[in-house]
Amino acid sequence: MSKVAIIGAGNVGGFAAAWIAGLDVADVVLIDKNDGLARGKAMDINDSLYILGSNRWVWGGSDYSLIDGADIVVITAGVARKPGMDREDLLKINKEIVKDIIEKAKGLVADDAAWVFVTNPLDAITEFGYSLLGIDRHKVMGMGVNLDTSRMVNQIAESLGVARTSISAMVVGKHGKGMIPLVDDISVSGMAVSLDEEIKGEIRERTVNRGAEIVACFGTGSAYVAPGAGIYQVVRHLLSGDGSVLPLSVPLEGERGISGECTGVPVVLGRLCWEKVLE
Ligand code: LMR
Repeated sequence: MSKVAIIGAGNVGGFAAAWIAGLDVADVVLIDKNDGLARGKAMDINDSLYILGSNRWVWGGSDYSLIDGADIVVITAGVARKPGMDREDLLKINKEIVKDIIEKAKGLVADDAAWVFVTNPLDAITEFGYSLLGIDRHKVMGMGVNLDTSRMVNQIAESLGVARTSISAMVVGKHGKGMIPLVDDISVSGMAVSLDEEIKGEIRERTVNRGAEIVACFGTGSAYVAPGAGIYQVVRHLLSGDGSVLPLSVPLEGERGISGECTGVPVVLGRLCWEKVLE
């Protein structure tokens, strides 16, 4: 039975746990320094699972021994940006949080566990986590541009008036200022679509700014339903190892001409790892 550990039982961690257990992908352990929050969320999610027809279980607490033997570790803990802030402004404070988590979790999880970073600024934190873990780079990835891809697909669907599920598109680069929505590589049911420059510009801008748009609407906190779904997507394919291609932030060593940093590129996912960058 596969076990997924989610560290950080805030809104993103909670929604990820709900999607993963509710959509029958894996059992989940939710860890948070706030023991009651993690335990309460686990109870609440478990109470939804009969209704949803899932036999998975979610456990929660502050005790890291709960993650013993986990196949995947997802780190969502960290401070969210406030309106007007960039994700990059969170680097210093979130590095401290992630360092503490890695120190506590590293010795407990399965030897072949995959590590998925979600804390912002996503690419820099993934890079930092990779440097602390010192494990095979194929076991380390950041969830960000697959979420941005879903956001861009919504813009394209509205613009073209077609079902989002018939659209193929991708966002690569950083989950932040260096985001690259590939507006020149969009297809609908396998047919290439070329959009006029003004529409491409609008899609690009709305995709890049979507996270900030939601932060501004909330006033406090950031998006969580779609980020939770983005985690579900990564976890599902890591567990099945089905060779799906997703854009994720990974430590690059020369692929696409980039070395020594994490950035979002299309990767082929195998069981508990990314196998290669799609060149
Ligand atoms: C997101 O894209 O929703 C997250 O990275 C949170 C944020 O700060 O926008």
